[in-house]
Amino acid sequence: MSRIFNFSAGPAVLPEEVLTRAGDEMLDWRGAGMCVMEMSHRGKEFIAIAAEAEQDLRELLAVPKSHKLLFLQGGATLQFAQIPMNLLAGRGRADYVATGEWSKKAIKEAQAYCDVHVAASSEDQAFTYFPSQEAFQIRSDAAYLHYCSNETIGGVEAHWIPESPVPLVADASSHILSRPLDVSKFGLIYAGAQKNIGPAGLTIVIVRDDLIGKAAEGTPSVMDYRQQAAADSMLNTPATYSIYIAGLVFKWLKAQGGLAEMEKRNAAKAKLLYETIDASGFYRNPVRPQDRSRMNVPFTLRDAALDGAFLKGAEQAGMVQLKGHRSVGGMRASIYNAMPIEGVRRLAAYMKEFEAKHG
Ligand SMILES: Cc1ncc(COP(=O)(O)O)c(C=O)c1O
Repeated sequence: MSRIFNFSAGPAVLPEEVLTRAGDEMLDWRGAGMCVMEMSHRGKEFIAIAAEAEQDLRELLAVPKSHKLLFLQGGATLQFAQIPMNLLAGRGRADYVATGEWSKKAIKEAQAYCDVHVAASSEDQAFTYFPSQEAFQIRSDAAYLHYCSNETIGGVEAHWIPESPVPLVADASSHILSRPLDVSKFGLIYAGAQKNIGPAGLTIVIVRDDLIGKAAEGTPSVMDYRQQAAADSMLNTPATYSIYIAGLVFKWLKAQGGLAEMEKRNAAKAKLLYETIDASGFYRNPVRPQDRSRMNVPFTLRDAALDGAFLKGAEQAGMVQLKGHRSVGGMRASIYNAMPIEGVRRLAAYMKEFEAKHG
């Protein structure tokens, strides 16, 4: 068996220990005589799996009692619509921060439901920075303020939490669990699982109790946070296997030392990669240094004509999925929790070699 270093932005690398454990439990989950995929979501085994996953995630993120934790489906993209459907509460207006492709998508979707005001934007510099607090102009009667705390495509991360007079909502899809987070500052946090949590098909929503129960008329029941919370996220059949794998990832994170330890490791991995980029005259990352993402590191080569050769050589050296998003080109290395430092070391060494040959 050989494992490759997978730098995909998502679905992404999972911890080897988690995959091994899932393999061991594939045919017979702890004496149940069946795979978790075959279990009824109403059975005691699966209910215990889901409850333990929730408990572990609550512990990891220190989710306060004031917030519900939901295991939903539909991806982060469905939340772009589900959030206005649930949180507008008849207000008809919401504020958004525009920092790149994902916040733009969230804005576009929300415009179908309400009057959207862009409270701050980094479009003036091609979305290469995160706006400062002074730049925020938040309407006091907005239902909420939405921002994307890590732009997966542009590689811009908010390393601080904005102050807001209205409930703060964050799309944390691509950096949740990469560092400790003060959940109490948020009205709602959401994330698709397929980057730092587990397999695709599961979406995590952490929502403050007082924001639940105000869904617009006509909201489908599976999209109503109140109904999902009341049913322990099992109003209908949940993404059972994804929840199980996510649960194994949470156990793995706890065994590694939790989110403080992950933050240390992630900072070290990102530092190594950005230093490699900055020390060369050959590679370039356009993001303002203090706003650079620790999870998604986009970079371009001096000559785009070399992109194909770079990717081919990387694959031969055991590294895949380094091609940048089609909207920006170049390269992107996603270095989530499960990417070991060895993968980043190998990439940095390869980049130096490639530069020496072609630079
Ligand atoms: C920051 C961010 N938001 C939203 C999405 C959309 O997620 P999904 O495909 O789960 O709908 C992605 C996916 O890559 C993302 O990176």
